[in-house]
Amino acid sequence: MSNDDLHSSLSAVVDGPEAGDVSRETTDAFSAFDEGDDSPLAREMIETERRRRELSEADFPHPARTRIFAVTNQKGGVGKTTTSVNVAAALANKGANVLVIDADPQGNASTALGVEHRAGTPSIYDVLLDDVPMARVAQQCPDIPTLWCVPATIDLAGADIEPCLCGAP
Ligand SMILES: Nc1ncnc2c1ncn2[C@@H]1O[C@H](COP(=O)(O)OP(=O)(O)OP(=O)(O)O)[C@@H](O)[C@H]1O
Ligand SMILES: [Mg+2]
Repeated sequence: MSNDDLHSSLSAVVDGPEAGDVSRETTDAFSAFDEGDDSPLAREMIETERRRRELSEADFPHPARTRIFAVTNQKGGVGKTTTSVNVAAALANKGANVLVIDADPQGNASTALGVEHRAGTPSIYDVLLDDVPMARVAQQCPDIPTLWCVPATIDLAGADIEPCLCGAP
């Protein structure tokens, strides 16, 4: 089932059966979304689709100067990366120029944004340890031209014990 099929099926529920170009096969696959179905999953998907549309039509003023957001939480696995890449992509999709700085050796944000981050790729490691300008290591994301990423590689894993970052002479 492709994303297009899913959106068509949800269209039929959100906007009524005339709105989506829904094949019989797709309708059958999504019979759970018939009007009157109030299963938690169906409600959640319909609500998410409504919100997605509202946001895709929304406009917002661009900031007058560069804004910096840090997404941080000491706890692992709570959605820091997911939040970062989605907020960045949403802003960039609306025409803002966005730079995501991946500072996690896992490189999950780099993966999500589709930029190269194999070991040895010029990355945040070179910026922090060798004073390489950030502009030299930033990569344009293949899907959104106004979205850029400074990648993180596995090289960063040992950086916090390397002398120049831990303050040793
Ligand atoms: N809003 C959400 N609803 C459901 N699942 C989510 C949501 N946000 C993130 N997740 C899932 O939670 C998991 C952890 O998310 P993510 O990698 O963004 O967390 P993280 O805080 O960056 O983790 P880490 O500390 O390892 O860097 C992922 O599998 C992600 O798909
Ligand atoms: Mg993360």
